[in-house]
Amino acid sequence: MRLRSPGLFLLLLSGLQADIQKKEEVQGIVGSSVELNCVYPEGSSFDLNDFYIYWQTAMPETVVTYYLPGNTSPRYKDNRYQHRAQLSLDSMEQGNFSLRLYNITPQDEQTFHCLVFQKSLELKKVLQVNVTLHVAANYSIPVVSNPIGPSEDEELTFMCKSTNGYPRPNVYWINQTDNSLLDEALQNSTVSVNEHGLYDVVSTLRVRRAPNVNVKCCIENVLLHQNLTVSSQTEPSSGTKDKITDKPARPQEKNITVFIVFGILCVLVAVAVAAGWFYRNRRSSGSYIGHV
Ligand SMILES: *[C@@H]1O[C@H](CO)[C@@H](O)[C@H](O)[C@H]1NC(C)=O
Ligand SMILES: *[C@@H]1O[C@H](CO)[C@@H](O)[C@H](O)[C@H]1NC(C)=O
Ligand SMILES: *[C@@H]1O[C@H](CO)[C@@H](O)[C@H](O)[C@H]1NC(C)=O
Ligand SMILES: *[C@@H]1O[C@H](CO)[C@@H](O)[C@H](O)[C@H]1NC(C)=O
Ligand SMILES: *[C@@H]1O[C@H](CO)[C@@H](O)[C@H](O)[C@H]1NC(C)=O
Ligand SMILES: *[C@@H]1O[C@H](CO)[C@@H](O)[C@H](O)[C@H]1NC(C)=O
Repeated sequence: MRLRSPGLFLLLLSGLQADIQKKEEVQGIVGSSVELNCVYPEGSSFDLNDFYIYWQTAMPETVVTYYLPGNTSPRYKDNRYQHRAQLSLDSMEQGNFSLRLYNITPQDEQTFHCLVFQKSLELKKVLQVNVTLHVAANYSIPVVSNPIGPSEDEELTFMCKSTNGYPRPNVYWINQTDNSLLDEALQNSTVSVNEHGLYDVVSTLRVRRAPNVNVKCCIENVLLHQNLTVSSQTEPSSGTKDKITDKPARPQEKNITVFIVFGILCVLVAVAVAAGWFYRNRRSSGSYIGHV
């Protein structure tokens, strides 16, 4: 039996029960690479001439890569995995058909099926591993804008923005005074998909005006078990005062550095001017003396 078309081959055989079936889950970060495992348990030395190996996805039905008996290298269909998927021949000879997938995008969030058929067993499916890839991307540190608008308004509106995350975020607004979650009826979050296929989120919070309203905006990435929390406060004189739970940014320190550098520059300029004046004075007095 000689099968030339990998598509036909799949249609014929992918429905059959495999000797060994496995299910795995793996997490990948957008832009990085991930290993999708498919290992034959008893594999010590494999005669690759006896095996058909396929990596495919079901939705859409795509062959990511495949290996046919008698070949010297895996083949890649002309698709979006062509330059991003890699099988290792050395590992395959040990019964390890794991696939490395590079430059992960949100579209890769799906189940990949590894199918291994043995020629000498009448093309029996000896191994099937379903690997579900979960894709994650870090949200940017939220930016909370302080309420603007006339102070006669009865309400204060805070806005919180964060971008380029995955999966869809959870947004919480927190009362900084007692660390309680604020009522969801006061909030409005708009989540949109940007040109990279990642999520951007804008959330607004409207609360009754009070002398000291301190709130925090929290963006949760469930997959990364990460909460990015930034606080804001209303006093206009103090400006934005941000605090990030796991990676503090310190705008104040930056300001101090700028002031110090500016101060040093001022002193240097003053010294230069004074020195120049002194030098000129000395020269003019010198030439005066020379005339006498
Ligand atoms: C793997 O996926 C196939 C196709 O969706 C399914 O028929 C099979 O039951 C799955 N196997 C396991 C072990 O989850
Ligand atoms: C399978 O092969 C890949 C690629 O060579 C390697 O990274 C991985 O550790 C191997 N897995 C096992 C279980 O040997
Ligand atoms: C996400 O960002 C936070 C802080 O910005 C950092 O501590 C963390 O390591 C990042 N995680 C990943 C997976 O890049
Ligand atoms: C925050 O909590 C304090 C103390 O419980 C309460 O007095 C205040 O009204 C709360 N602020 C908001 C905006 O709900
Ligand atoms: C949230 O947005 C919807 C539609 O834009 C609007 O009807 C609703 O009043 C908003 N709620 C708050 C609390 O701002
Ligand atoms: C993030 O904050 C929310 C709301 O306070 C909480 O339910 C969740 O457990 C937190 N997640 C992590 C990973 O800390």
